[in-house]
Amino acid sequence: GKGLAVFTSGGDSQGMNAAVRAVVRMGIYLGCKVFFIKEGYQGMIDGGEYIVEANWSSVSSIIHKGGTVIGSARCKEFMEKLGRRKAAKNLIMRGITNLVVIGGDGSLTGANMFRQEWSEHVESLRESGEITEEQYKKFNYLHIAGLVGSIDNDFCGTDMTIGTDSALHRIQEAIDAIVSTAYSHQRTFILEVMGRHCGYLALVSALTSEADYVFIPEMPPPHDWPEKLCKKLDQERIAGQRLNIIIVSEGAVDREGHPITAEQVKKVVVDKLKQDTRITVLGHVQRGGSPSAFDRVLGCRMGAEAVMALMEATPETDACVISLDGNQAVRLNLMDCVNKTKAVAKAMADKEWDLAVQLRGRS
Ligand code: F6P
Repeated sequence: GKGLAVFTSGGDSQGMNAAVRAVVRMGIYLGCKVFFIKEGYQGMIDGGEYIVEANWSSVSSIIHKGGTVIGSARCKEFMEKLGRRKAAKNLIMRGITNLVVIGGDGSLTGANMFRQEWSEHVESLRESGEITEEQYKKFNYLHIAGLVGSIDNDFCGTDMTIGTDSALHRIQEAIDAIVSTAYSHQRTFILEVMGRHCGYLALVSALTSEADYVFIPEMPPPHDWPEKLCKKLDQERIAGQRLNIIIVSEGAVDREGHPITAEQVKKVVVDKLKQDTRITVLGHVQRGGSPSAFDRVLGCRMGAEAVMALMEATPETDACVISLDGNQAVRLNLMDCVNKTKAVAKAMADKEWDLAVQLRGRS
């Protein structure tokens, strides 16, 4: 059978295990020899015990677990060509010609680069005698399918990344808990949520918790935001509300591109309104815990589709990313999606906020 390996890379997210499970089982079902690569790209470079054959039962009882049971890492060595050459050798030694990478945009970009260099690595490994002539002929191609695992929902091409829904559940539970104590003490709470440079988690959690104000990176507030914020909070109190909730995305910025922090917002509220105000940084709680039903199903669907895409690939097929589009699993060109995602980042860096919002929306 064809050699197929699956690994998780970058920050973990809930639902990665469901995806790993689906890849392993669909791979075995279609007659492949399936491997886990543990600890992400680092495991691929180190080889040895980090690359192990999987069987049907090795993915039993993982679908309900958060995180990734095969480990994940952000790997510096893979950024260097020599590291990627080592990784190529380890794959060839095990007859792996198909890779499923589960990770965020950085991990997927790395995978694409690896694929583009593949023939160069194979050539150099043959020249140095590290692989045989037979291996050189047999393993002259590498197929790659990416799955987007991230709580941030920051990748263009897919409606939802694996983990986002579960993170929203975590955030929601936390806000509900805070609301009850805020109510008792008539307090204002500022909640910092994750998302890196993407405001999706902040925006959705603000909507679902009836927050009074939200700060997101894609849409910086007007210059007079302190006045506008205080007016809004004041109005709510006058109308009889006993508490206020403000959500700050960790990547929030002002119109100059400078960070807007929870501390800054607190200072404004305390100085101008004298409200009893607290900050809660939700942190890694958001990335932990068991995956939601949605993320389990999403991981399963994406994982199965990735294996089918790899089995149908020809040497000319570009690396693809499996995406959710209108509730359908679709195969998109990996590099196109990476480039679109980069265009959003560029628009934000250039302070072209309207463009950033438009590009995000079209993702
Ligand atoms: O990309 C997922 C994420 O949780 C971001 O929301 C956050 O900015 C970052 O990872 C935190 O990274 P680390 O786990 O390395 O602290």
